[in-house]
Amino acid sequence: MLLSRRLQPSPLAPIGREGWGEGASARESLAIYIHWPFCRSKCPYCDFNSHVREAVDWERWTHALIADLEHQAALAPDRAVASIFFGGGTPSLMMPETVAALVARVKALWPVAADLEVSLEANPNSAEAERFAGFAAAGINRLSLGIQALDPAALRFLGRGHDRDEAIAAIRLARASFARYSFDLIYARPGQSAADWEAELGEALSLAGEHLSLYQLTIEPGTAFGNRAARGEVLAADEETGAALFEATQLRLAAAGLPAYEISNHARPGAECRHNLAYWRYEDYLGIGPGAHGRVTQCAGKLATRQLRTPEAWLTAIETSGTAIDELTPIAREEAIGEMLMMGLRLVEGVARQRLEAVAERPVEQLFADALPRLVDGGFVTLDGERLAATAAGRQRLNAVLGALLA
Ligand SMILES: C[S@@+](CC[C@H](N)C(=O)[O-])C[C@H]1O[C@@H](n2cnc3c(N)ncnc32)[C@H](O)[C@@H]1O
Ligand code: SF4
Repeated sequence: MLLSRRLQPSPLAPIGREGWGEGASARESLAIYIHWPFCRSKCPYCDFNSHVREAVDWERWTHALIADLEHQAALAPDRAVASIFFGGGTPSLMMPETVAALVARVKALWPVAADLEVSLEANPNSAEAERFAGFAAAGINRLSLGIQALDPAALRFLGRGHDRDEAIAAIRLARASFARYSFDLIYARPGQSAADWEAELGEALSLAGEHLSLYQLTIEPGTAFGNRAARGEVLAADEETGAALFEATQLRLAAAGLPAYEISNHARPGAECRHNLAYWRYEDYLGIGPGAHGRVTQCAGKLATRQLRTPEAWLTAIETSGTAIDELTPIAREEAIGEMLMMGLRLVEGVARQRLEAVAERPVEQLFADALPRLVDGGFVTLDGERLAATAAGRQRLNAVLGALLA
């Protein structure tokens, strides 16, 4: 199965008691994720923690998100913050004042990198585009737009609240308003041919800056598409077509100077999303807001944090007890190895041997003695003195590769 969606690490596996790792020093940087859980409407394919509400008390939410930041600062003091990412849901529905207050609070709580990356996910509806100048003034320097499709019929199929003209206008406005911008497209839609996708990609490249996220449509259980698919409707391209479109995407983007650096993410070298790289490199991050989770290195390994998911439950918990973290658990060595691989093998660069061996306290060859020779011979994985990486064929079947390594 192809793994293509934007992901944070999976829900937590059982807790281990064994200590590992040397603790994070002040030199290690920190990434901060802030979740805004509201959307105008729920897209039929989406299983993110996103909710439609008639009214949102933005002042209450601003105070609560700041309280969460202040509470979690104690988990990772003495670090420099390298990135902040406002994700959702639809963070472009936030008031720019809320974004400005949160960015200012991060800067008051931690030293920040000189080249601090501050990203925000935006929907291209014209109402939200009107806020772009406010977001730029609030400190956002990288915008990630959820365009999803440039074809009007596909936008309708995906249940999007914007049309093609709004999408193109929002991309142009993002280019004019922010130092860096990216946009997302979803492919492998039902009936989409390689020629259709090539044409859409060509147009996307003419509008793109230095980064594009290209996700293969996945049908998630519990979504409207998931329910329709369970009743027998075909809502995504078959696996063979999906694989062909994936390969065409890799070739086309590499030829255009935006090679893949992750399964679904393409950038001009140096223009990668530094925040997402922190997840994939298994570096530390705090998760602020409903349902957000974090990974923070302490003396004896990493701690995993996870927050209440429902917006109202989260807000009440923060207002009554100062935190909505409902799980704070040490990550056992074996689990850390699994997470490091699961994230790192998504990247073209793979996993740094030194980091993996520091956690495992064993050479990689010994750690994966059973599966490694087979995966290397089959052309799915490479290993050298520096890195363990999945090849393009391996990334396309990452679940199977992970299953073999972690069996
Ligand atoms: C948090 S979501 C969306 C952010 C923003 N609210 C929007 O819709 O534009 C991040 C991205 O995940 C991708 N995505 C979400 N669900 C997906 C699915 N089932 N299959 C493929 N891509 C998906 C979409 O491209 C989306 O832009
Ligand atoms: S895709 Fe974006 S706008 Fe649609 S429901 Fe998910 S988070 Fe909300």
